[in-house]
Amino acid sequence: MVRQEFLTAIKAGQEGRELSREEILLLLSSTDEEENQLLFSEADRVRQNAVGDEVHLRAIVEFSNYCVQNCLYCGLRRDNHELVRYRMSPAEIVEVAIKARTQGFQTVVLQSGEDSWFTGDRLAGVIQKIKEQADLAITLSVGERTYADYWAWKKAGADRYLLKYETTSPALFKNLRPERDLADRLKALGSLQELGYEVGSGNMVGLPGQTNEDLAADIQLFCKMDFDMIGISPFIAHPQTPLARVVNGELGKVLKVLAITRIVTKDTNLPATTATGIVQDKGRQEALLSGANVIMLNMTPSAYRKHYQIYPGKERSPLEMQAIPEMLFSLRRKIGLGKGQRIHSRPAEKPESLPPANFSLLSI
Ligand code: 5AD
Ligand code: SF4
Repeated sequence: MVRQEFLTAIKAGQEGRELSREEILLLLSSTDEEENQLLFSEADRVRQNAVGDEVHLRAIVEFSNYCVQNCLYCGLRRDNHELVRYRMSPAEIVEVAIKARTQGFQTVVLQSGEDSWFTGDRLAGVIQKIKEQADLAITLSVGERTYADYWAWKKAGADRYLLKYETTSPALFKNLRPERDLADRLKALGSLQELGYEVGSGNMVGLPGQTNEDLAADIQLFCKMDFDMIGISPFIAHPQTPLARVVNGELGKVLKVLAITRIVTKDTNLPATTATGIVQDKGRQEALLSGANVIMLNMTPSAYRKHYQIYPGKERSPLEMQAIPEMLFSLRRKIGLGKGQRIHSRPAEKPESLPPANFSLLSI
């Protein structure tokens, strides 16, 4: 039975009115199957109106699993001494990117841990070579770096940057990334916007101690920062991390966060993340029916792929390039033909770029 206040909250999205924290919480916390189905179908409707039926494919190359950070949740953390580390050479990265282009991809995502071997100049060289040889949009996902590096990579031709804030809860962030600061991460996102990147962020759902209030705050900040892409993934416990025994995030909760994010942001690019397909069979298909419009496909050479162990099961990711046309056909969707940049469905408002020096989380 759908409650009147639930309907009113969903309608707020339709009317272009901002959802309040209470309304987001109401949508997030329903246990009623009919209400949840209504939420997913409304997100699907908003997706179709705002960005259409195209699903944009991205080729992802995980080029180094070295990381100076020690995030409690991640298998690449520097204290995981059981992980076999690898680093692709610049020439190999360029080669795989070109191969992705010949296979029909128009965007390549270059992802790694925070690896200082890839200095600003080295990675700029890779970007420049790819741009010289292929008509590809380049997305970087290499963690928090200096403003000078972001600038050099933009100048070399990078188009987009992914930097998830993971959680907006200051306490949770401090607990899970003890050496880092949430305010610095948000500032980095502002710098990237200021430099003209298309900027993506995102969070994890099901982190230990995370509440619906925390998730509602995440969604509100997605909206406020006007991100061009937002990746929403379930937390998946990695056996070689301090969170080995924590229960994985639930697909149902991920789908709700995704659906609400679609309703409030309208035209942002929302991937059906790899992790959704790992916590549950067909998770990515469900995500595509709950607001998502992007899929990333792994192009990391097989010799390295098994070592990019952010969370377990990634290397067995069930979706392969060959399976995509049939899967999209069954969902009545089509493969995106362009580079899949964000197309604003409403007049672009200027994003709140660089947060002021005294930026405070209390203002969220
Ligand atoms: N479960 C799910 N996602 C994870 N990430 C890191 N560790 C995990 C995990 N255990 C995600 C983070 C990071 C991205 C590169 O991988 O969101 O931003
Ligand atoms: Fe490194 Fe990113 Fe993993 Fe943290 S989440 S340990 S920064 S790869």
